[in-house]
Amino acid sequence: MYSILGVDTSEKDPLRDWSSDAHALHYVLVIEILSILILGFNRMAKTFSRLCLFSLLLIYFNFLVITQSAPESALVTQLPGFNGSLPSKHYAGYVTVDEKHGRNLYYYFVVSEGKPSEDPVVLWLNGGPGCSSFDGFVYEHGPFNFEASKTKGGLPTLHLNPHSWSKVSNILYLDSPAGVGFSYSKNDTDYLTGDTKTASDTHAFLLKWFDLYPEFLPNPFFIAGESYAGVYVPTLAYEVAKGIDAGAKPNLNFKGYLVGNGVTDEQIDGNALVPFAHGMGLISDDLFEEVNGDCKGNFYKPLSDDCSSNLAKVDKAIDGLNIYDILEPCYHGTEAEKITTSYIRLPSSFRKLGETERPLAVRKRMFGRAWPLRAPVRDGIVPTWPQLSNSNNVPCTDDEVANSWLNNAAVRKAIHTVEESLVSSWDLCTDRITFDHDAGSMIKFHKNLTAKGYRALIYSGDHDMCVPFTGSEAWTRSVGYKIVDEWRPWTSNGQVAGYIQGYDKNLTFLTIKGAGHTVPEYKPQEALYFYKQFLSGLPI
Ligand SMILES: *[C@@H]1O[C@H](CO)[C@@H](O)[C@H](O)[C@H]1NC(C)=O
Ligand SMILES: *[C@@H]1O[C@H](CO)[C@@H](O)[C@H](O)[C@H]1NC(C)=O
Ligand SMILES: *[C@@H]1O[C@H](CO)[C@@H](O)[C@H](O)[C@H]1NC(C)=O
Ligand SMILES: *[C@@H]1O[C@H](CO)[C@@H](O)[C@H](O)[C@H]1NC(C)=O
Repeated sequence: MYSILGVDTSEKDPLRDWSSDAHALHYVLVIEILSILILGFNRMAKTFSRLCLFSLLLIYFNFLVITQSAPESALVTQLPGFNGSLPSKHYAGYVTVDEKHGRNLYYYFVVSEGKPSEDPVVLWLNGGPGCSSFDGFVYEHGPFNFEASKTKGGLPTLHLNPHSWSKVSNILYLDSPAGVGFSYSKNDTDYLTGDTKTASDTHAFLLKWFDLYPEFLPNPFFIAGESYAGVYVPTLAYEVAKGIDAGAKPNLNFKGYLVGNGVTDEQIDGNALVPFAHGMGLISDDLFEEVNGDCKGNFYKPLSDDCSSNLAKVDKAIDGLNIYDILEPCYHGTEAEKITTSYIRLPSSFRKLGETERPLAVRKRMFGRAWPLRAPVRDGIVPTWPQLSNSNNVPCTDDEVANSWLNNAAVRKAIHTVEESLVSSWDLCTDRITFDHDAGSMIKFHKNLTAKGYRALIYSGDHDMCVPFTGSEAWTRSVGYKIVDEWRPWTSNGQVAGYIQGYDKNLTFLTIKGAGHTVPEYKPQEALYFYKQFLSGLPI
């Protein structure tokens, strides 16, 4: 059980001793180098040229790099599929969060292409549960646009993404919990996990990671994620805030968090679908009136047969839509190709309706059945996406580009993953874990965090039916904070890009017009804009 009040802070922090040595060494070296520099400067003032200072500075900075910086062994020097030098430094590797079990979390760290020493550090988490954060890296806001190979199974070509979130932040993609993506444990019992264990593991990961990359400790730190990370983000933020209060070392400069189309509260999210379907014109006024009358606003737990049968009508009306973006076609894997051919008669303009604005069409989506509705938000064991669909593909989603790149041996070597005997293959979403949603509603976490002064941006692609904006709008309102910035359009590039409502205590709710479940995938330019504004504390 996870109780927000009864959390044990007395636990010893095993990471502390570990870090102090490294820091002490660092300070000694810095003092030594500074004195060399000062001595050198005095002498030089009398006699010498700039060259001398320059070389001393070079020595100083070299030492800084050696003593202060990221582990060189983690540096990614080249990426198969990408021709040219990387626009900023990339690092990748593992952090062991449990030595005894051999539980290891994999990260990929993209240093900012702007001002690395000033820009925020942002931890990015995809959801599932069971989905790899390479989803964000490949399809959403990573440094590259992936162009599929023309030959089947060939390596994709990587182009620079002008809307990468690494333009304005140092961004840390983490595969979490162990068992997901390239993260693993040598003890299988770790694959039975849940909200609480995931949050404490990720917190342990962060403390160790910042010890490895201490030069990023002074930067403002944010936590961000999407979908089921609507649970990961606030539970982790709460652990981080608690750690800061308890004096955990290193001291994280935590400022706030972002949640996109996030799972939050089973009741509010569960009741959000019917009003969404009505507002979007997917069900009739008559059906809406009937279902409202019979269910009395409680769509989440139908209490009567009439309510249930009307809800079945709603489900029937929206079955076949792409749940992640109701405007988009739904892609079927090869096993379902026969079904899709009957839709080829559709005019191509219609098929184009929901196309992503990313320059390369990275995911194909065609018509077909959507994911079972309202499944992910309930307390208890959460079925993983492959379990729901009874196959290894996420419904409506084509992950071929990510699959062929991340399962390529040369790529795996370049990005420092363990050998195949430990992680045999990369899956967008895995069914290797059994996941217990044991933290309940997230609203209490949001209240606690915002009351403590952490800033929160709750954003929502308004054409997502998986976690519809109607739920996020309702729960942010239910917190009861005073409205300080009344519902208004926000613009990007001179166009209305969505709507925003600002609450007291820096809680902001924002929609992105026309975006689906994975916002930056559909609206990369708009997403980079609000992301940047939020991180720098500027109005959106
Ligand atoms: C890589 O880029 C260089 C310079 O633009 C070009 O000459 C070369 O053909 C490219 N190589 C490949 C394999 O695309
Ligand atoms: C795996 O972890 C469980 C729970 O801590 C423990 O009982 C078991 O002995 C471990 N198995 C191995 C092979 O270490
Ligand atoms: C947040 O939670 C912590 C730990 O349970 C508690 O000590 C603190 O009083 C809470 N703060 C607020 C503002 O609710
Ligand atoms: C909101 O955040 C800004 C920037 O961090 C801060 O200056 C301000 O005091 C915060 N406002 C509230 C009401 O907490």
